[in-house]
Amino acid sequence: MSGPTWLRSTRPPLFGDLHNWALIQADALAFLQVIPNDSVDAVITDPPYGIAFKGESWDGDLLADADGFQAFSTTWAREVRRVLRPGGYLASFGATKTTHRLVAGVEDAGLEIRDQLLWLYSTGVPKGRRMPGGVSSALRPAYEPILLARKPLPRGRTLTRHVEETGLGALDIDGTSANPPDRSWPTNVLLAHEERCAEACGPRCTVRLIDEIAKSERRGARPVSRLFYSTKATPTEREAGCEALPKITSEIFSSKTGGRARANVHPTVKPLDLCRWITRLVAPPGGSLVLDPFTGSGSIGCAAVLEGRQFIGIERDHRYVPIARARLTHWTRQAARSSEPR
Ligand SMILES: C[S@@+](CC[C@H](N)C(=O)[O-])C[C@H]1O[C@@H](n2cnc3c(N)ncnc32)[C@H](O)[C@@H]1O
Repeated sequence: MSGPTWLRSTRPPLFGDLHNWALIQADALAFLQVIPNDSVDAVITDPPYGIAFKGESWDGDLLADADGFQAFSTTWAREVRRVLRPGGYLASFGATKTTHRLVAGVEDAGLEIRDQLLWLYSTGVPKGRRMPGGVSSALRPAYEPILLARKPLPRGRTLTRHVEETGLGALDIDGTSANPPDRSWPTNVLLAHEERCAEACGPRCTVRLIDEIAKSERRGARPVSRLFYSTKATPTEREAGCEALPKITSEIFSSKTGGRARANVHPTVKPLDLCRWITRLVAPPGGSLVLDPFTGSGSIGCAAVLEGRQFIGIERDHRYVPIARARLTHWTRQAARSSEPR
């Protein structure tokens, strides 16, 4: 891992093998300042959304104000710009209601806005309630935006030369093709099956619905299931590695778990296959270093180690650090097992 000296000399609690991964319990705004300039190949993160999500304090307070949220986004993104190597990418999840402020904040920090990906799913729960007369204040969410931005290339440097010399600056199109044999060009729309689609797609599955519409509209149309797809994180995936942690019954999940207790109580766990796809897209293969300043339960880090990248995560909340630590340990072992010769 690059910069082991600065990493080992940090004061906040530090976990991990410091080879594949490191997890720091700290405030990201403070800890990012310790990371040297131009030392990280990609930042993949899922920062607070500024919507007071499920009443979580990390997403409320000053961040629930639009200007405060944008200023916060600019502050962390400035540090991200400094620590990224030139041509390195930032991929950041956002929320539909505040993504415009996230994008503006990241742009104000001096990163180039490259794209806005859409992750579509069909399992969202309406955020409003149905009132008399069949009206409500909100639609049912069916997508999340993912911002793609890049640290500018050195002045006067062409992309071709920069990629040749550093491996950074471009997206891995072949590595993220949904159909590797025919190397179909990946799109900026990602689809999620429903959890139960493992055997056969359910009637409301986005992939099935869009495929059916495409088929009925144009004979011979290419099915959209050729796009990359990813289910929401399943209970099994969320819990893997957390078996020794205490299980808690949380109101947040009672509708999904039928009141069953779980160890991974983070409310916004991202699916590993989606995080792995983003990792392959923006972090060059061969041990590049991925940073997530808002690690939560560690999904992005688990994806990074599964893809053979090195990972540094920062998480402030003491409730989530043990969960991220347990999951990172679990998936690092799995990655080592699957790379053993048979
Ligand atoms: C949206 S969640 C990330 C969830 C994660 N992607 C997962 O799959 O579990 C954002 C996380 O950022 C953390 N956070 C918020 N502000 C922070 C700060 N200033 N420093 C470090 N962590 C922070 C919160 O505690 C929360 O766990």
